[in-house]
Amino acid sequence: MPEKHVPADYSEMDHLEAKRFDKMVRENFMPAIISTVKQLVENYGVLEGVGIDIGCGTAIFAVELCRHSKLRIYALEKEKAICQLACSNIENEGLKDRIIPVQGDANELPFGSEFADFIISRGAYHCWKDKVQVFKEIYRVLKGSGIGFVGGGFGRYVTEEELNRMKSLRDRSLKEDAKAYSSPETISDVISKAGITNFRILDDPAGFWVEIKK
Ligand SMILES: C[S@@+](CC[C@H](N)C(=O)[O-])C[C@H]1O[C@@H](n2cnc3c(N)ncnc32)[C@H](O)[C@@H]1O
Repeated sequence: MPEKHVPADYSEMDHLEAKRFDKMVRENFMPAIISTVKQLVENYGVLEGVGIDIGCGTAIFAVELCRHSKLRIYALEKEKAICQLACSNIENEGLKDRIIPVQGDANELPFGSEFADFIISRGAYHCWKDKVQVFKEIYRVLKGSGIGFVGGGFGRYVTEEELNRMKSLRDRSLKEDAKAYSSPETISDVISKAGITNFRILDDPAGFWVEIKK
Protein backbone atom coordinates (compact mmCIF):
# COMPACT_ATOMS: atom_id res chain seq x y z
CA MET A 1 0.00 0.00 0.00
CA PRO A 2 1.50 3.42 -0.98
CA GLU A 3 2.27 5.81 1.86
CA LYS A 4 -0.20 8.62 2.53
CA HIS A 5 0.55 12.14 1.19
CA VAL A 6 -1.22 15.47 1.58
CA PRO A 7 -1.66 17.28 -1.79
CA ALA A 8 1.01 20.00 -1.97
CA ASP A 9 0.81 21.38 -5.51
CA TYR A 10 -1.74 24.04 -4.67
CA SER A 11 -1.64 25.87 -8.02
CA GLU A 12 -2.82 22.79 -9.91
CA MET A 13 -5.84 22.17 -7.72
CA ASP A 14 -9.33 21.92 -9.07
CA HIS A 15 -12.38 21.75 -6.80
CA LEU A 16 -12.14 17.99 -6.20
CA GLU A 17 -8.46 18.13 -5.35
CA ALA A 18 -9.08 21.09 -3.02
CA LYS A 19 -11.74 18.98 -1.25
CA ARG A 20 -9.24 16.15 -0.85
CA PHE A 21 -6.68 18.62 0.54
CA ASP A 22 -9.28 19.93 3.03
CA LYS A 23 -10.20 16.39 4.14
CA MET A 24 -6.55 15.37 4.58
CA VAL A 25 -5.78 18.45 6.68
CA ARG A 26 -8.82 17.80 8.90
CA GLU A 27 -8.03 14.11 9.32
CA ASN A 28 -4.32 14.52 9.95
CA PHE A 29 -3.37 17.97 11.24
CA MET A 30 -6.15 18.98 13.67
CA PRO A 31 -3.97 18.30 16.76
CA ALA A 32 -1.41 20.83 15.43
CA ILE A 33 -4.08 23.41 14.63
CA ILE A 34 -5.69 23.09 18.08
CA SER A 35 -2.32 23.07 19.82
CA THR A 36 -1.05 26.17 17.96
CA VAL A 37 -4.17 28.19 18.74
CA LYS A 38 -3.85 27.14 22.40
CA GLN A 39 -0.23 28.32 22.32
CA LEU A 40 -1.30 31.68 20.87
CA VAL A 41 -3.87 32.17 23.64
CA GLU A 42 -1.21 31.25 26.23
CA ASN A 43 1.29 33.68 24.68
CA TYR A 44 -0.92 36.66 23.97
CA GLY A 45 -4.22 36.21 25.83
CA VAL A 46 -7.48 36.60 23.91
CA LEU A 47 -6.46 38.33 20.67
CA GLU A 48 -8.72 41.08 19.37
CA GLY A 49 -8.94 43.57 16.53
CA VAL A 50 -8.06 42.82 12.93
CA GLY A 51 -6.37 39.52 12.10
CA ILE A 52 -4.99 38.25 8.80
CA ASP A 53 -4.25 34.60 8.00
CA ILE A 54 -1.87 34.53 5.03
CA GLY A 55 -2.10 31.37 2.90
CA CYS A 56 -5.14 30.27 4.88
CA GLY A 57 -5.83 27.17 2.77
CA THR A 58 -9.44 26.10 3.34
CA ALA A 59 -9.64 28.27 6.50
CA ILE A 60 -9.59 25.40 9.02
CA PHE A 61 -6.99 27.22 11.11
CA ALA A 62 -8.78 30.58 10.77
CA VAL A 63 -11.99 28.97 12.10
CA GLU A 64 -10.18 27.54 15.15
CA LEU A 65 -8.44 30.87 15.81
CA CYS A 66 -11.72 32.75 15.44
CA ARG A 67 -13.41 30.49 18.02
CA HIS A 68 -10.66 31.26 20.57
CA SER A 69 -10.27 34.99 19.98
CA LYS A 70 -12.22 38.15 19.36
CA LEU A 71 -10.45 38.77 16.06
CA ARG A 72 -12.15 39.70 12.81
CA ILE A 73 -10.01 37.61 10.46
CA TYR A 74 -9.21 38.25 6.80
CA ALA A 75 -8.43 34.80 5.41
CA LEU A 76 -6.13 35.35 2.43
CA GLU A 77 -5.59 32.61 -0.13
CA LYS A 78 -4.06 32.77 -3.59
CA GLU A 79 -5.64 29.73 -5.25
CA LYS A 80 -9.19 30.03 -6.52
CA ALA A 81 -10.42 26.47 -5.82
CA ILE A 82 -8.97 26.52 -2.29
CA CYS A 83 -10.36 29.99 -1.60
CA GLN A 84 -13.83 28.88 -2.77
CA LEU A 85 -13.72 25.99 -0.32
CA ALA A 86 -12.59 28.37 2.43
CA CYS A 87 -15.71 30.46 1.68
CA SER A 88 -18.04 27.48 2.09
CA ASN A 89 -16.26 26.26 5.25
CA ILE A 90 -16.64 29.72 6.81
CA GLU A 91 -20.32 29.82 5.84
CA ASN A 92 -20.96 26.29 7.15
CA GLU A 93 -19.39 27.25 10.49
CA GLY A 94 -21.70 30.29 10.69
CA LEU A 95 -18.71 32.65 10.84
CA LYS A 96 -19.33 34.88 7.82
CA ASP A 97 -19.51 37.95 10.06
CA ARG A 98 -16.11 37.22 11.65
CA ILE A 99 -13.99 35.68 8.86
CA ILE A 100 -13.68 37.41 5.50
CA PRO A 101 -12.23 35.28 2.70
CA VAL A 102 -9.96 37.19 0.33
CA GLN A 103 -8.43 35.79 -2.84
CA GLY A 104 -5.04 37.47 -3.10
CA ASP A 105 -1.28 37.12 -3.14
CA ALA A 106 1.02 37.39 -0.13
CA ASN A 107 3.55 39.23 -2.33
CA GLU A 108 1.19 42.16 -2.59
CA LEU A 109 -1.17 42.10 0.36
CA PRO A 110 -4.49 43.76 -0.55
CA PHE A 111 -4.59 45.74 2.71
CA GLY A 112 -3.51 49.23 3.71
CA SER A 113 -0.44 49.91 5.84
CA GLU A 114 -0.82 49.49 9.62
CA PHE A 115 -4.08 47.60 9.11
CA ALA A 116 -3.70 44.49 11.26
CA ASP A 117 -3.32 43.77 14.96
CA PHE A 118 -2.34 40.18 14.37
CA ILE A 119 -0.94 38.43 11.29
CA ILE A 120 -0.49 34.68 11.20
CA SER A 121 0.87 32.50 8.46
CA ARG A 122 0.97 28.80 9.23
CA GLY A 123 2.56 26.30 6.88
CA ALA A 124 2.65 28.63 3.86
CA TYR A 125 6.18 30.06 4.17
CA HIS A 126 7.67 27.21 2.12
CA CYS A 127 5.53 28.29 -0.88
CA TRP A 128 6.77 31.87 -1.06
CA LYS A 129 9.17 32.29 -3.97
CA ASP A 130 10.21 35.79 -2.82
CA LYS A 131 10.22 35.31 0.94
CA VAL A 132 11.87 38.70 1.62
CA GLN A 133 9.06 40.47 -0.25
CA VAL A 134 6.34 38.68 1.76
CA PHE A 135 7.98 39.65 5.06
CA LYS A 136 8.21 43.27 3.84
CA GLU A 137 4.48 43.14 3.16
CA ILE A 138 3.70 41.61 6.56
CA TYR A 139 5.70 44.38 8.22
CA ARG A 140 3.98 47.11 6.19
CA VAL A 141 0.48 45.85 7.03
CA LEU A 142 1.19 45.30 10.73
CA LYS A 143 0.05 48.00 13.16
CA GLY A 144 2.67 49.61 15.39
CA SER A 145 1.35 47.55 18.31
CA GLY A 146 0.73 44.45 16.17
CA ILE A 147 2.20 40.96 16.24
CA GLY A 148 3.21 38.81 13.30
CA PHE A 149 3.52 35.04 13.76
CA VAL A 150 4.98 32.97 10.94
CA GLY A 151 6.09 29.37 10.79
CA GLY A 152 5.18 25.75 10.56
CA GLY A 153 5.44 24.56 14.16
CA PHE A 154 2.92 22.02 15.42
CA GLY A 155 2.28 23.91 18.65
CA ARG A 156 3.79 23.01 22.01
CA TYR A 157 0.75 21.01 23.27
CA VAL A 158 0.92 18.12 20.81
CA THR A 159 1.92 14.75 22.21
CA GLU A 160 5.18 13.18 21.08
CA GLU A 161 3.23 10.54 19.17
CA GLU A 162 1.11 13.15 17.36
CA LEU A 163 4.19 15.21 16.61
CA ASN A 164 6.09 12.31 15.07
CA ARG A 165 3.11 11.22 12.96
CA MET A 166 2.33 14.74 11.64
CA LYS A 167 5.97 15.63 11.07
CA SER A 168 6.63 12.53 9.03
CA LEU A 169 3.47 13.08 6.92
CA ARG A 170 4.37 16.75 6.41
CA ASP A 171 7.96 15.96 5.44
CA ARG A 172 6.86 13.19 3.06
CA SER A 173 4.28 15.49 1.41
CA LEU A 174 6.43 18.62 1.05
CA LYS A 175 9.66 16.78 0.17
CA GLU A 176 12.57 19.30 -0.23
CA ASP A 177 10.29 22.23 0.72
CA ALA A 178 9.89 20.79 4.24
CA LYS A 179 13.46 21.93 4.99
CA ALA A 180 12.12 25.50 5.28
CA TYR A 181 10.64 24.49 8.65
CA SER A 182 13.85 23.14 10.13
CA SER A 183 16.09 26.12 9.55
CA PRO A 184 15.54 29.04 11.94
CA GLU A 185 18.89 30.47 10.72
CA THR A 186 17.61 30.81 7.14
CA ILE A 187 14.32 32.44 8.16
CA SER A 188 16.23 34.87 10.43
CA ASP A 189 18.38 35.82 7.49
CA VAL A 190 15.32 36.35 5.26
CA ILE A 191 13.61 38.55 7.87
CA SER A 192 16.76 40.64 8.34
CA LYS A 193 16.97 41.13 4.58
CA ALA A 194 13.40 42.46 4.71
CA GLY A 195 14.72 45.22 7.00
CA ILE A 196 12.94 43.88 10.11
CA THR A 197 14.95 44.10 13.32
CA ASN A 198 12.36 43.46 16.02
CA PHE A 199 11.78 39.73 15.76
CA ARG A 200 12.55 36.58 17.69
CA ILE A 201 12.54 32.88 17.00
CA LEU A 202 10.34 30.88 19.35
CA ASP A 203 12.04 27.53 19.19
CA ASP A 204 10.37 24.41 20.50
CA PRO A 205 10.68 20.64 20.02
CA ALA A 206 7.33 20.90 18.14
CA GLY A 207 8.85 23.30 15.61
CA PHE A 208 9.79 26.95 15.52
CA TRP A 209 7.75 30.12 14.97
CA VAL A 210 8.92 33.65 14.29
CA GLU A 211 7.34 36.50 16.22
CA ILE A 212 7.55 39.91 14.57
CA LYS A 213 6.88 43.26 16.20
CA LYS A 214 7.42 46.83 15.01
C1 LIG B 1 0.10 24.04 3.38
S1 LIG B 1 -1.15 25.17 3.01
C2 LIG B 1 -1.45 25.79 4.64
C3 LIG B 1 -2.89 26.14 4.85
C4 LIG B 1 -3.26 26.71 6.22
N1 LIG B 1 -2.47 27.88 6.56
C5 LIG B 1 -3.19 25.71 7.33
O1 LIG B 1 -2.56 26.01 8.34
O2 LIG B 1 -3.79 24.62 7.23
C6 LIG B 1 -0.37 26.56 2.22
C7 LIG B 1 -1.37 27.49 1.56
O3 LIG B 1 -0.72 28.72 1.20
C8 LIG B 1 -1.24 29.15 -0.05
N2 LIG B 1 -0.29 30.09 -0.68
C9 LIG B 1 0.91 29.78 -1.22
N3 LIG B 1 1.52 30.87 -1.70
C10 LIG B 1 0.69 31.91 -1.48
C11 LIG B 1 0.76 33.31 -1.76
N4 LIG B 1 1.82 33.83 -2.37
N5 LIG B 1 -0.27 34.08 -1.39
C12 LIG B 1 -1.36 33.54 -0.76
N6 LIG B 1 -1.49 32.23 -0.48
C13 LIG B 1 -0.48 31.42 -0.82
C14 LIG B 1 -1.41 27.85 -0.81
O4 LIG B 1 -2.25 27.99 -1.94
C15 LIG B 1 -1.97 26.93 0.27
O5 LIG B 1 -3.35 26.97 0.33
